[in-house]
Amino acid sequence: MPHPDALVWDDRYSNDLRWREVRPPRSLLTTHQSLLPRNGLALDAACGTTPTGLHLARQGWQVIALDVSNTALRLAQSQVQKEALTVSFAQMDLANPWLPTNQFDVILNFYYLSRPLLSTYRQSMKRGGLLFFETFVRDEFIQSTTDGNPEHYLEPHELKNEFEDWHIIHYEETQRISRATERRNRSRRIARLVARKPE
Ligand SMILES: C[S@@+](CC[C@H](N)C(=O)[O-])C[C@H]1O[C@@H](n2cnc3c(N)ncnc32)[C@H](O)[C@@H]1O
Repeated sequence: MPHPDALVWDDRYSNDLRWREVRPPRSLLTTHQSLLPRNGLALDAACGTTPTGLHLARQGWQVIALDVSNTALRLAQSQVQKEALTVSFAQMDLANPWLPTNQFDVILNFYYLSRPLLSTYRQSMKRGGLLFFETFVRDEFIQSTTDGNPEHYLEPHELKNEFEDWHIIHYEETQRISRATERRNRSRRIARLVARKPE
């Protein structure tokens, strides 16, 4: 029996062109590119079509990309093949994560929230590794969407508080116009964090 999240996301990646297109990497990473070492091992969690993981793979990074949606992983793998790159993919339910300790030089978490992952990242990041995390913060908009589940949204300041003992390089909570909100002439609240695990 497929995971319920996989059913929802497989459907989006199969039937909605907006989810299938090749997207640019997330700007939170590209604007902090100078912080990155030349290469290393990166995790792209809930990678979707892995736009930001692909960006690192193009630069010679080793990338492990995880997602619950097999359809997203197939789309991502086809782009990887087109560009003759290498990315390791695995289908995984990140609501119940297990990751090895002290593994990653970079962790990417864009637009997905599973609270058990927060403590998992703390352990699986190498000392000195960089976390790039961006997703929605709870606001009044969620009441009016089909996904009003508070588990899927950060509380205000939650992300910063969770990593307060790391070196916080960038943190902001700001408004973002997304595709869904654009149609309704609205913006959404997001949090954006770049933090380094202490050496
Ligand atoms: C909004 S997309 C973000 C994709 C990508 N991180 C990006 O930057 O575009 C959310 C992703 O979370 C994945 N996802 C949803 N539930 C999941 C779960 N339980 N475990 C792993 N991935 C999940 C979806 O399949 C989808 O690819």
